[in-house]
Amino acid sequence: MTAAESATGAGRDLDVVVLGATGLTGRLVARHLHERSRATGARWAVAGRDPDRLAAVLDELGAPDVPSLVVDLRDGPALERVARRTRVVLDLAGPYSTTADAVVAACVRGGASYVDLSGEIPAVARTVRTWHGPARRAGVRVVQVSGYEALPADLAVLLACRRAEEADAVGGPASAQAADGPGAEGPFGDGPGAAGPVVAVAVTSTARPPRRRLGLSDAVSGGTLQSLVEVLADEDARVAGDPAALVPDARAARRVRRRSPLALRPRVMHGRVLGPVVPAAFIDPPVLHRTAALLAAERGVPHSPAALAEGVDMGAVRGPAGALSLLAAAASSGLQAGVLALTRLPGPVRRRLAAALGRTLPGSGSGPRGDVLEGWTWSVRAEALTRSGARGTALLEGTGHPGYRATARMVAEVGLLLARTVEDPPRTGHLTPALAVGLVGLPELAHAGLVLRA
Ligand SMILES: NC(=O)c1ccc[n+]([C@@H]2O[C@H](COP(=O)([O-])OP(=O)(O)OC[C@H]3O[C@@H](n4cnc5c(N)ncnc54)[C@H](OP(=O)(O)O)[C@@H]3O)[C@@H](O)[C@H]2O)c1
Repeated sequence: MTAAESATGAGRDLDVVVLGATGLTGRLVARHLHERSRATGARWAVAGRDPDRLAAVLDELGAPDVPSLVVDLRDGPALERVARRTRVVLDLAGPYSTTADAVVAACVRGGASYVDLSGEIPAVARTVRTWHGPARRAGVRVVQVSGYEALPADLAVLLACRRAEEADAVGGPASAQAADGPGAEGPFGDGPGAAGPVVAVAVTSTARPPRRRLGLSDAVSGGTLQSLVEVLADEDARVAGDPAALVPDARAARRVRRRSPLALRPRVMHGRVLGPVVPAAFIDPPVLHRTAALLAAERGVPHSPAALAEGVDMGAVRGPAGALSLLAAAASSGLQAGVLALTRLPGPVRRRLAAALGRTLPGSGSGPRGDVLEGWTWSVRAEALTRSGARGTALLEGTGHPGYRATARMVAEVGLLLARTVEDPPRTGHLTPALAVGLVGLPELAHAGLVLRA
């Protein structure tokens, strides 16, 4: 398969394959592709190991004509046959730490783009090391961490940085945010001529659930909990807390760690209490720093990392609820710091603990369903500051359960975008979600309920 054949998708009878379509998130992705199929005309298929369960998914959707591909993640040649038929494989068959490598390999060999929802950073770091070069040579895009973690924050930061750089270029410290929107993009989604470097980035998110009592299974799925277990069992578990985990250049990675260490503590900004991003504050930062590193490489300049501060708005610091907000932020910080501390335990202890947790925690198929998936509103706001004091901001708003309904729609739209953008695919290799979508692709995410508000 030549790079040109990968880029044009020549000779393929499918645009998007949903691998793991029988899982909780996979079924939601399949639903979204089905609902969008008339508008997009996309040729899509479900794939998984159990033909009866695949048939049940299509039955439930009322989509009997959608092709169903039977394939097991442990069967490399069969995975490659799937990859050769399609432009994009959406891999929803997590946990990914021990399974994604075979699917990425099949995609690189078969010339299909690969997209997943992994938040398992140690394994993502290995994928970067192993597959970035081969994927570039094959003209293939490998895009991981492409759900609520870390796509909205990654895109919001990309846009805020571009606006800050433009403001810096035209007017220095006092200049206003650039007026033009993402529609004014060049083909790379970030325009040439970036000015002074961005030195600080703040990301604040909010999430409003529907008015009803939510249990653990309404918040996270068994698949996500098992992914956390996989991180704990991983031979490189320590990498989980490294903000530079996905920055391969060792000197640049040291600068990231120095300038932007991971800080798990409550903060107060503009009168609001900020707690750590949930379920894990250590997933987004490596992705955001990789975006900056890849952009610097494209521009041929050294990567000068920004100090990144990310947090979830937990309420006003003043008033009777202020103390409670601070307490909740402190509890969430303590819990996450505790989880990270576990990744530093000796290997045999970690693996025994992971095995015990794997047996105890909910497993495959459990998680939020029905009306708990709707009625959510959420937002991600990024603010970037250049050395000379110019600012840029970007505000994205989303609807639907962020981790599942919205994530499923987002990853499906990323798949549709990658299947379509074949004329001018300048970026290949292991990309971040923001660089795969580009600011040109951002408006398309409105179909996923993710809208640029400001
Ligand atoms: N980053 C984010 O924002 C985000 C959000 C949501 C989910 N996620 C991640 O997405 C992943 C999936 O979560 P989930 O809750 O949807 O999981 P799930 O319900 O357990 O689904 C897992 C899927 O993988 C399939 N699978 C497992 N082993 C297989 C094999 N050997 N061959 C073929 N298929 C196989 C399962 O097939 P069977 O039905 O045959 O068992 C099922 O379809 C998790 O890793 C989670 O962490 C990330």
